[in-house]
Amino acid sequence: MKIFIDTANLDMIREINSWGILDGVTTNPSLIAKENTDTPTRVREIAKIVDGPISAECMATDWEQMVTEGEKLAAIHPNINVKLPMCVDSLKATKILADKGIRVNMTLIFSSSQALLAAKAGARYVSPFIGRLDDIGAHGTDTLAEILQILRNYDQLSDTEVIAASIRNPTHVLEAAELGCDIATIPYNILKLMVSHPKTDEGIAKFKAGNQYIIGIIPK
Ligand code: E4P
Repeated sequence: MKIFIDTANLDMIREINSWGILDGVTTNPSLIAKENTDTPTRVREIAKIVDGPISAECMATDWEQMVTEGEKLAAIHPNINVKLPMCVDSLKATKILADKGIRVNMTLIFSSSQALLAAKAGARYVSPFIGRLDDIGAHGTDTLAEILQILRNYDQLSDTEVIAASIRNPTHVLEAAELGCDIATIPYNILKLMVSHPKTDEGIAKFKAGNQYIIGIIPK
């Protein structure tokens, strides 16, 4: 499974990129606003750090402006893909952008029917929001499983990759991986949780203490 980081913070991106496990980045307008910058500026900076897909979300709300804005965002760097929120205008814009060879990440996917339509329109990625589905008492990973099954049923839809999004905990990541999801976009704090375990910390502490005896720092 490819791992993307779900942030617009450059320090977090640099740190996780240095781990050697990072395949790409997703941003959204809220994440960009937290950094007091704008999408074109920030994705240009991210592209200098990460060699992989970077999602940049359009602010336009009608399909013609989405196409214009999407073309501008995609022209920033070959790794930029255009994020559009699921709606009829986004489907129209996706078809046009995809025909021009521009990759679209259809975001705010909450149902399998939305994912099916987005893939049919030519979206390169669809992003089901697992955490926000769980928030309203639905089962996010059930929807994720259904979407994966539907897209795998058809060769014509096999170019669409599924991004497990709105991830709230390491279990969401593991459930996505068990389902064979193509990508998980994971917040920084969840990536940090995934790397640590109290028994590992305990083992490292014991190992370090043992080494101090071996190299003679602490006399036996
Ligand atoms: C995906 O690309 C989105 O940026 C993200 O996963 C949204 O998640 P949230 O529900 O934590 O805002």
